[in-house]
Amino acid sequence: MKHAIGAFAFIVVLIVLGWLVLRPDALLPAQASAQAIPIDQLFNLHFKTIAILFGLIMGLMLYSIVFFRRKPGDTEDGAYIKNNTGLEVVWSVIPLGVVLAFAFEGAKTLAETERIDPQPLEVVVTAQQWAWHFEYPAYNITTTDLVLPVNQQVLLRLTSMDVIHSFWVPEFRVKQDAVPGEEHQLRITPNKKGAYTLVCAEICGTRHAYMIAKVMVETSASFSQWVSQEQAAGSIDPVERGKFLYTRYGCDSCHSLDGSRVVGPTFLGIYDQKVQFEDGSDTTVDEAYMKESILDPGKKIVKGFTNAMPADIGSNLTDAQIDDLIAFIKTIK
Ligand code: CUA
Repeated sequence: MKHAIGAFAFIVVLIVLGWLVLRPDALLPAQASAQAIPIDQLFNLHFKTIAILFGLIMGLMLYSIVFFRRKPGDTEDGAYIKNNTGLEVVWSVIPLGVVLAFAFEGAKTLAETERIDPQPLEVVVTAQQWAWHFEYPAYNITTTDLVLPVNQQVLLRLTSMDVIHSFWVPEFRVKQDAVPGEEHQLRITPNKKGAYTLVCAEICGTRHAYMIAKVMVETSASFSQWVSQEQAAGSIDPVERGKFLYTRYGCDSCHSLDGSRVVGPTFLGIYDQKVQFEDGSDTTVDEAYMKESILDPGKKIVKGFTNAMPADIGSNLTDAQIDDLIAFIKTIK
C-alpha cells in the first residue's frame, strides 16, 4: 500500500511536470490564423495525453528500478505471474477509446480548417525553382510578396511550373503542396496583423532553403491602399512579369534565349531584326509583328520553321500580359 501511494504520487508529479513543459503556446510558433485555433487545440490534447502516458510508463519504471532492485545476495528468480484478465481488458479498452476519440477530434479539426467562408479573396500562387509568384485576379496585380487582409478568408489556388513545392507559413499552421500540372487549394483566414515568412516545405532542389517569400497581414483599409498602390505602380516591372510569363506559359520550351534552335526561332536579338518568311516575304520585328505572332501564330511562318505553336496561346493571355511578354523579349539581346 505504501508503494502504491508512493508510485501514484510520483506519476502525478511527472504528469504535472509534463503538462507544464508541453505547452503549445510555448512550443509552437505564434498563432495567426483561424485555422490555427482548432489545430492548436488538437496539439494541446495530444501534448496532455503524451504527458499522461510518459508519467504512467516512466513513473512506474523508475519507481520500480529504485524500490524493487535485487537485494545483494538474492539470486532467486522473480515470482511467476500468469495473466490478469481484468488488467488486460482495462489496457485494451482505454487505448481503444483514446484512439477513437482522437480520430473523431482529428476529423472535426480537419473539417473546421477546410470550412468555406463566402467571398474569399482569391490568390493564384505559382511556385517555381526557387521563387513564389502571387496573382490577384480580382485586382489584376502580380507580386512576389503575399499581402493579405486580416480576418478575411483567402483562397489560395496553388500550382507549380516545375517540381513539387509546398506552401507553408508556420504561423498559419496549414500546409499544401504546389504540384506541376495540377491545382490544389488552401483556405487561410489570417487573424493577426503582422509580418510572416512563407517557406517552401518540400525539398525542391539546391536552393530549396532559400525559397521564401514575405507575407504581410494588414487591416482591410491598408490592404485596399496597398492594392491601389500596386495597381498604380504596375506591381513588378513589366520585363520581370514578362520573364515570369515566358516560363509560366511554356514559351521557354520552344524559344531559347541564347540563340540555340529548339522548336521555334530563338528570342535572342530578334527585336528590330529582319526576318524572312516561308512565303518569301519579310519584315522587321517590331511590337505589332510580335503581338500578331502570339495571337495568330500560323499567319507568318519564319523561313526554315513549321508552325508548332498552340493556336490558342493568345486567348490564354490578356493584352497586358502580351505587352509584358513583348517587353521581356525586347530585352533579349
Ligand atoms: Cu520549393 Cu522547396
